[in-house]
Amino acid sequence: MDADLIKLVNKLQDTFANLGGELDMPQLAVVGSQSAGKSSVLETIVGRDFLPRGSGIVTRRPLVLQLIHTPVPEPKPGQPEPTYTEWGQFLHIDKRFTDFDEIRREIEQETFRVAGQNKGISKLPIHLRIYSPDVLDLTLVDLPGLTKIPVGDQPSDIERQIRSLVLDYISKPNCVVLAVSAANVDLANSESLKLARSVDPQGRRTIGVLTKLDLMDAGTNALDILTGRVYPLKLGFIGVVCRSQQDINASKSLQDALESEAEFFRSHPAYRNIAHKNGTKYLAKSLNQVLMNHIRDKLPDMKARLNTLMGQAQQELNSFGDAAIYGDQNQQGALVLRLMTQFARDFVASIEGTSVDIS
Ligand code: GDP
Ligand code: NA
Ligand code: MG
Repeated sequence: MDADLIKLVNKLQDTFANLGGELDMPQLAVVGSQSAGKSSVLETIVGRDFLPRGSGIVTRRPLVLQLIHTPVPEPKPGQPEPTYTEWGQFLHIDKRFTDFDEIRREIEQETFRVAGQNKGISKLPIHLRIYSPDVLDLTLVDLPGLTKIPVGDQPSDIERQIRSLVLDYISKPNCVVLAVSAANVDLANSESLKLARSVDPQGRRTIGVLTKLDLMDAGTNALDILTGRVYPLKLGFIGVVCRSQQDINASKSLQDALESEAEFFRSHPAYRNIAHKNGTKYLAKSLNQVLMNHIRDKLPDMKARLNTLMGQAQQELNSFGDAAIYGDQNQQGALVLRLMTQFARDFVASIEGTSVDIS
């Protein structure tokens, strides 16, 4: 994730917290048919290998993944250099996971435990927190795929149940929807787009993601979709190529996958000219843009709070009067207030100078 954005968001969150408010960052949820590549896409956004993926019904409970920015501690004189650490923590088990393969196994086991062995789905989410210096405070939700025909232990109204489960998450105005469709399936049948449109008719918070471009029939391509001529979406469609099942079986790394993806777009005759507007990296960038827009929408609220605070501080300063300048504790209080006022003024000025384009 973009280092500048991480820094900016942390600064804003700290400031908001100091003001007794909250900068609530959006949730990001993936919607799409089963095996469209939802878990694969989420994983590339986080930049870590830990979600169960596969050709069958793999995601059978919502996974609410909370990323928590955890800075590397400052080095202290005479002490060993603090180490960079990243770890995961589930709500259902009191244990720190530093091995991301182990996190994946725990998600699988916890899925089986509640949703059974035979393709059943449960509404009950798995909560996982990832602590890392490289993430934004952001919540990502991996969801079971939309499906029509019940299999295994699934109830006869499975379609309705999954839709309602997905809607629980994506109908929140604070949710950014990644509407995932596979390029080797007709877009006209894309359930994700229909569902996303039903909660976000103006397409303000929906990003179209087209996966599996590498699996399209020879001689066909998705240029029309990617350039917005088939389905209009304000934030557009972004094509990606994630790891195939074979890649996963062969433990292909995320880094290698990113490189072959970039090569795919660069060398493809139909996509060469739009290569810079596709791929996982561009998806992450677009996401940053959506987050920046969200933050920008929150700034007026933050400024209003600051102004209130400055007004209060000024009033209190005045009430101390000259008599209080010498000798008692009020002096300290006045100084603190003066500093706070100055800080608030500087902060408003710095926000006003903040550019939204951080890419
Ligand atoms: P989900 O069910 O929507 O979460 O989909 P998964 O992320 O589990 O992916 C389903 C299968 O499709 C897995 O075997 C992935 O390896 C594979 N897959 C996902 N995206 C792509 C892609 O862009 N290209 C190829 N070839 N396979 C993909
Ligand atoms: Na799957
Ligand atoms: Mg999945």
